[in-house]
Amino acid sequence: MYTINENYLNLQGSYLFSEIAKRVEAYKEANPGADVIRLGIGDVTQPIAPAIIRALHTAVDEMGSAEGFHGYGPEQGYAFLRNAIAQQDYQERGCKIDPDEIFVSDGAKCDVGNIQEIFGLDNRVAVCDPVYPVYVDTNVMAGRSGRFDPKKGGFERLIYMPCTQENDFLPELPAQTPDLIYLCFPNNPTGAAIHKDALQKWVDYANQNGSIILYDAAYEAYISQEDIPHSIYECEGARTCAIEMHSFSKNAGFTGLRLGYTVIPKDLVCNGTSLHALWNRRHGTRYNGAPYIVQRAGEAVYSAEGKAQIRQQVAYYMENARMIREGLARAGFAVYGGVNAPYIWLKTPKNLTSWDFFDLLLKEVQLVGTPGSGFGASGEGFFRLTAFGTHENTIEALKRIQRL
Ligand code: MLT
Repeated sequence: MYTINENYLNLQGSYLFSEIAKRVEAYKEANPGADVIRLGIGDVTQPIAPAIIRALHTAVDEMGSAEGFHGYGPEQGYAFLRNAIAQQDYQERGCKIDPDEIFVSDGAKCDVGNIQEIFGLDNRVAVCDPVYPVYVDTNVMAGRSGRFDPKKGGFERLIYMPCTQENDFLPELPAQTPDLIYLCFPNNPTGAAIHKDALQKWVDYANQNGSIILYDAAYEAYISQEDIPHSIYECEGARTCAIEMHSFSKNAGFTGLRLGYTVIPKDLVCNGTSLHALWNRRHGTRYNGAPYIVQRAGEAVYSAEGKAQIRQQVAYYMENARMIREGLARAGFAVYGGVNAPYIWLKTPKNLTSWDFFDLLLKEVQLVGTPGSGFGASGEGFFRLTAFGTHENTIEALKRIQRL
């Protein structure tokens, strides 16, 4: 008789965004024709930029000719894309990252979920609280987390780093030393950004303690202020303690195309074993590479025209962020984020729980957001709105909240 991976039984409920979708569908079924505005999951709404669409068309046509056809590509990604990433995302920012330290993939969500596979099950994992649930759930699935402890409001073996109003939603160095540390800046869900000197402290801490930082930089394109690092490799010493993940979803509208990458510097060596070599082995075994046409689209993101067009898109979403931030503040809410990130984190009114506020918004004004408690115990009493809607929906959503 077969058995199952019992670690899955330790997972808490369903995946956050599936749970939200389920509740919204149930509401719509009971209220046909309801005009529901979704500012929940961070999914983009603007069409893909023309320069990227053109690159897609060209690549599709190439695939239809004998000379232009591409079958399996290099699992790590085509050189044309890895070179563009290394040059524009790193070398031009003064970071020493070589193209062959970049692994192209079908998105940052898969990479942040999969990366833990190359680490031992005995590693102690630190996560921010609140946190993007993929970091926690994938460690639970692997059996690295222990059981859920209701008293702790989290998993036995995970080290939680509370991010609260008191610490400006920036985690403090944990008292108990972790082996793996997940950091995401600009942050999902709180929208907080970290200054370079504060991130440098984490890099120094990781190097001193033999820890690895798993740095999720999915939202770096939304940074608007000086002195906020776009990459952890802007910090001294990060090549010996950090792995970084990036996404094309949020900066270039690729949520439906799927493209991302992970950087593993060759200086990351654990007792003589190269992490780059381990990940390369995993990638080559489990993955046949992102589609050629999507990688060509990714290349267009780095063209002069592509960059100008996606800068406009980022500005469009950040205008939504500004409207939400200022509109909610005027309505008396305590609001955070939305300056260097496309997420606005707000305190629920009248001490409502996050899910009660979710239900209230859905039922009374047909607006969907994300309950803060879905991201962890410290998210209770908070709520996340995304700036990825259309201007029209964002304005209408604010009117509805004000009416409520
Ligand atoms: C979110 O809403 O937190 C993100 O869009 C989810 C994701 O990127 O997977």
